[in-house]
Amino acid sequence: MASSPQLSGRTALVTGGASGMGRAASELFAANGALVIIADRDEAALAETAASITAAGGSVEIHIVDVGDQAGLGPWADGLDHEVIDVFLNHAGLPGTGGWKWDAEDWNQTMVVNVWAPMELTKRLMPRFKAAESASLIYTASTAGLRPVPGMFTYAASKAALIQFVKSLAVSVAPHGIRANAICPGATDTPALRRDIEDGTVRGTLEQIAAHNPMRRVGTVDDVAGTALFLASDASAYLTGLAIPIDGGASA
Ligand SMILES: NC(=O)c1ccc[n+]([C@@H]2O[C@H](COP(=O)([O-])OP(=O)(O)OC[C@H]3O[C@@H](n4cnc5c(N)ncnc54)[C@H](O)[C@@H]3O)[C@@H](O)[C@H]2O)c1
Repeated sequence: MASSPQLSGRTALVTGGASGMGRAASELFAANGALVIIADRDEAALAETAASITAAGGSVEIHIVDVGDQAGLGPWADGLDHEVIDVFLNHAGLPGTGGWKWDAEDWNQTMVVNVWAPMELTKRLMPRFKAAESASLIYTASTAGLRPVPGMFTYAASKAALIQFVKSLAVSVAPHGIRANAICPGATDTPALRRDIEDGTVRGTLEQIAAHNPMRRVGTVDDVAGTALFLASDASAYLTGLAIPIDGGASA
């Protein structure tokens, strides 16, 4: 992917940035000149991603963080060394238990990670976003938050809630020059999707899902990272409050 330095001098915080689309976005942000702070709970994947960014000449800082830790997340955010954060990609998320099998614990955990954590981080970090010249906040939702998916109840509800938070946020912070958008990937080939197919959370095989897509393929991590870079950069300076499907035309 082309890498003109669109984020030179900017600081980007990415949650869930150690794997899949979050990793691809972290690498692309770094290749475009940003200092990337990655917060993820997977220590080994964090180290691997940091090594790859450093080897490519990028700047990266890693933090082992479980965004579902309701006691620890706020203090961690308050303790960050960076007074200015220009780009926030809130990517960490959980699929929840599919079908009718959810229980209170699973429902709570999914809502905490997919909705509470992005809201809490946004609240805690707002002074640092305001300190930036024109911060861009990006939240990974899903096409499941826009359109019905059979049997995907808790997850769909959580992503719809996240989208509505982002829209309210966008109109609230626009006067401060801060933008907020949701990205809504369709089925995207990541370790998470392969796990979800294997355990039945997502129905069908990768090939079957691709066959139903207008472009006859599933999304790639680069499809999503490229959209995240566009939203992070000045190229999208007048776009805010959107929930953008990245799904090969499936939502058209
Ligand atoms: N893959 C898809 O088809 C698809 C489609 C739509 C939306 N999404 C969304 O994308 C995100 C998942 O990304 P992916 O598919 O690249 O998955 P992935 O499993 O490859 O990466 C997710 C990353 O998030 C981290 N993470 C998960 N829970 C965390 C927590 N509580 N605290 C900190 N880090 C945590 C994981 O360690 C991992 O590094 C989720 O928000 C998911 O809802 C995925």
